[in-house]
Amino acid sequence: MAKPKVLATHKLFDAARKSLDASCDVEYWEKQERPRREELLRQVRDKEGLVCLLTERIDEELLNEAPKLRIVANVAVGFDNIDLAACTKHGAVATNTPGVLDDTTADFAWTLMMAVARRLGEGEALARSGNWKGWNLDQLVGTDVSGKTLGLVGFGRIGRAMARRANGFQMKVIYNDAQRVAENVEKELKAEYRELDRLLMEADFVSVHVPLLPETRRLFDAAKFALMKRAAFFINTARGAVVDEAALVQALESGAIAGAGLDVFEKEPMIHPGLKRANVVLTPHIASASLETRTKMACIAAENVIVFIKGNRPPNMLNPEAFQAR
Ligand code: GLV
Repeated sequence: MAKPKVLATHKLFDAARKSLDASCDVEYWEKQERPRREELLRQVRDKEGLVCLLTERIDEELLNEAPKLRIVANVAVGFDNIDLAACTKHGAVATNTPGVLDDTTADFAWTLMMAVARRLGEGEALARSGNWKGWNLDQLVGTDVSGKTLGLVGFGRIGRAMARRANGFQMKVIYNDAQRVAENVEKELKAEYRELDRLLMEADFVSVHVPLLPETRRLFDAAKFALMKRAAFFINTARGAVVDEAALVQALESGAIAGAGLDVFEKEPMIHPGLKRANVVLTPHIASASLETRTKMACIAAENVIVFIKGNRPPNMLNPEAFQAR
């Protein structure tokens, strides 16, 4: 029997590729730059499966172009690039890659927090510049992280991984989430629930770990930044669109907050020019980018496709109703 045709919009890593190739007839996008939209629509036309990245928009238009498509495996935990209702309507199951990137992402959010608090970017630039005149008492003085209050907005797997790190830094941990977590979890992580506005008023560092949903889009606007302490820092490794970027720039310019560490942006790969400031650390959406983690993410996406193709329930379904309706 012919193997089912699958499009992978990335060459993936060898481990994922090997398992995918054993069960599917895969066409890989081998180039480093992302495929243009027309190219994607053309290549997906005759495919039953799609392994895609968060840079691809999976919507009504694409699903109309690909009438045989039954599984869309996103190589990411966030899935705001996928129109789930449209997938369900077209009978396509969508999957993501939860669980494997929590520590890697928390490590990176921590890196951004430390970097902006301790002025790593400025120090690095000075050390490389040839202009360093030597040690001085008030040179590049930053802000302590240890012992401060960390406000976690979003307390899922990644938010909780942040709380674990914060415990090691003797920080006070406060969190907000759509749902308050069980008391034993709060106790274990030494985390206290706060209403969002209260959290913003209290935290020295605010780190965002919510998914992008209609209710979190532009959650951080001018009014929210105005609540933060002037000495506080804002860290975002979630999605750029949870922030009104112009309001963030305004808050940084006016001194309403002390700085920011940002890995994600409203209109990637464009970065608002007003964010390119000394008190902002900027990285290009790489919080989950360790070789171990990115390989695991690709393998999970491949696994979701393979399990589905064999007629079984993929482990990470986002719209299980589409599977039931088959
Ligand atoms: C990365 O941003 C992801 O959602 O996995």
